Amino acid sequence: MMRLENLLSCTLIVNSIFTGICGYDDYNIIAENVEKLLDNFESYTYPTNNEFFFESNEKTADSTCEEKEYDFIIVGTGTAGGVLVNRLTEEEDFTVLALEAGDEPPQLSDMLAVSIYLHRTPYNWGYNTTAQKNMCLGSRDNKCAYPRGKMLGGSSSINFGMYVRGHRQNFDHWASLGNPGWSYADVLPYFKKAEHATFDNADRDYHGFDGPQKISVPEDTPLLTEALMKAHIELGKNETDYNGKEQDGVARLQFFLDKNIRASSNHAFIKPVKNRRNLEISVNSYVTKILINGNTAFGVQYLKNGKECTAKASKEVILSAGAINSPQLLMLSGIGPKEELAKHGIELIADLPVGKYLQDHQFFPGIFYRPKREFYHNSILENVKLWTENKRPLTPSMGQQIVSFWNFLGLEGTVPEIELFFFGPPLISYHLAAILGYTDEYIESFKTLNPYSDINVNIELLHPLSEGSVTLNSKDPRDFPLIDPNYFSDPKGVDLELMYEGVKVALKLNETEAFKSLGLELISIPYPTCDSKFEKMSKPWWFCALKTLSSTLFHPISTTRMGPNPETSVVNSKLKVHGIQNLRVVDAGVMPDHISGHPNAVTVMIAEKISDEIKVDHLGPPKRK
Ligand SMILES: Cc1cc2nc3c(=O)[nH]c(=O)nc-3n(C[C@H](O)[C@H](O)[C@H](O)COP(=O)(O)OP(=O)(O)OC[C@H]3O[C@@H](n4cnc5c(N)ncnc54)[C@H](O)[C@@H]3O)c2cc1C
Ligand SMILES: *[C@@H]1O[C@H](CO)[C@@H](O)[C@H](O)[C@H]1NC(C)=O
Ligand SMILES: *[C@@H]1O[C@H](CO)[C@@H](O)[C@H](O)[C@H]1NC(C)=O
Ligand SMILES: *[C@@H]1O[C@H](CO)[C@@H](O)[C@H](O)[C@H]1NC(C)=O
Repeated sequence: MMRLENLLSCTLIVNSIFTGICGYDDYNIIAENVEKLLDNFESYTYPTNNEFFFESNEKTADSTCEEKEYDFIIVGTGTAGGVLVNRLTEEEDFTVLALEAGDEPPQLSDMLAVSIYLHRTPYNWGYNTTAQKNMCLGSRDNKCAYPRGKMLGGSSSINFGMYVRGHRQNFDHWASLGNPGWSYADVLPYFKKAEHATFDNADRDYHGFDGPQKISVPEDTPLLTEALMKAHIELGKNETDYNGKEQDGVARLQFFLDKNIRASSNHAFIKPVKNRRNLEISVNSYVTKILINGNTAFGVQYLKNGKECTAKASKEVILSAGAINSPQLLMLSGIGPKEELAKHGIELIADLPVGKYLQDHQFFPGIFYRPKREFYHNSILENVKLWTENKRPLTPSMGQQIVSFWNFLGLEGTVPEIELFFFGPPLISYHLAAILGYTDEYIESFKTLNPYSDINVNIELLHPLSEGSVTLNSKDPRDFPLIDPNYFSDPKGVDLELMYEGVKVALKLNETEAFKSLGLELISIPYPTCDSKFEKMSKPWWFCALKTLSSTLFHPISTTRMGPNPETSVVNSKLKVHGIQNLRVVDAGVMPDHISGHPNAVTVMIAEKISDEIKVDHLGPPKRK
């Protein structure tokens, strides 16, 4: 306990204007905690269901849960839920209960660089995909690991923190699908409302400078960041602020980052308002059912310390449990595809395509370059000390560097199909392979990497044609849902071809003067299941490599997508569930089609926009200041 408090006081100080005055002891404690996290990750055993919530805990065995009524109940305090908690309680007349299955985040979630190790802790729900036919072939049982954050802040407390909104046309496309109010011109003010940009050269018309969520660009890795920028310029890219007027180009990555601290929804939106009198947050509270009378939602059932509790909502129940758990909860409550509910003996309340149309982004982390020098060959203690001074290597996640966008089809203006981003030293080498769930054979391959020097090129597919689903294992909320992204399943193979176009760009970097001058050379790791079948680096070999090591980039959307038609969508453009009163879904699952970016910023924007609409619905148009 003592330790935790020291760590806390240190981070708090670091977080204030007096950066870098943590005592030597405090560095030791943070470093010890980092070491412990690193030591424990290999022996961690994932849960295989949610049994845990049903067990009563001795310490709290006689706690009671009194049934109370609130105006709003928010289910899940993740990226979206965190924003709602803050914005709805700005109205003193609203009372809000927020229920979160997880706990307070651990202090180490503040440090973006260790985020991947949190995957192997109880702060991750611990899902895997179902066995995939065309991808995840280098993962155990052909199942990709499928992490989701389980704590205040949700996945924004465990993610890579990359701030990439997407292309303006993505939102114009949403509007054209029959969703008024979601064009780029409509949503831009809400991106800006949440944001407090702290970096130089921001395209001023497109960023916010006084919102609650800090966005920062970490300092460069000497020589390396610049070389990556220059190499792209040699390949014809211009430097750009990709969240500004022109997405196309190359840029240093912007992060959800407040000095050295992860700017999660918890950090930016929940923590500052926790003491509001009209807000109650209940952690370790697993919601198992939405209570619906006729076609009106009026409350929820949840488990806390093994006890079944209920809470009532006089105005609205808002589901923000994320693109995997919100559909599960809807189906458990009788809202979903008729056949799916019938299969599990769940009484049907509304026949809607819940869990259908799952879209995800996959990425390929399997191309590596080695410079002629090492970077950051420090002890953990030294790196932690640098972190308290907001310095690399621990401030960004995965030693990340830059990002670039590529449009190969040239069909829709400059909407990119592929994004490249780069992990840099100290790359976590085989730890990354282990955490992504690769087989022992591929973990061995990653052991040939040098974590202090090597960088990798990550290729991300932005608009996959492959579509999957979230379905139920059973009607028991103890069971995990079934996640089948169905990667690389589009009949014409466009997804794989586009990833291969990305591979070709990644290989071209080897020919640039910028790479040559830093001695950066393409290196190869063994691909035991491809090397024996195909000529190394031939197109069939790359297809094999792509199917083997591509992983989810953890961006599920569209499982409760918005649209005007209840046959093909779950919520309307106000995010109200079709045919049900007083029930909205506000999370990543409502996006009707994928974006040319990463969904955290968009999910924040969605919650900002709907918060305003909820206020207008219940209070009328703003008379406020
Ligand atoms: C490892 C990883 C890396 C990522 N990297 C990036 C990145 O760099 N940039 C980016 O933009 N996006 C990234 N993402 C994606 C991004 O974090 C998500 O799209 C975003 O967090 C989704 O927000 P959400 O509100 O929909 O769900 P979440 O943030 O997942 O929130 C859901 C919350 O609901 C809680 N919950 C779920 N079920 C229940 C229940 N039944 N009862 C009570 N509570 C419940 C959960 O515990 C969680 O707190 C990443 C995601 C992951 C997992
Ligand atoms: C997910 O995969 C990991 C690694 O193979 C395994 O340890 C874990 O038990 C799996 N979990 C589930 C729910 O299948
Ligand atoms: C790069 O910028 C120059 C100068 O503004 C412009 O002429 C050129 O078209 C740009 N190139 C790309 C690929 O956008
Ligand atoms: C990469 O470039 C180096 C020169 O910098 C060259 O020796 C090497 O053969 C190239 N590798 C490939 C696969 O083209």
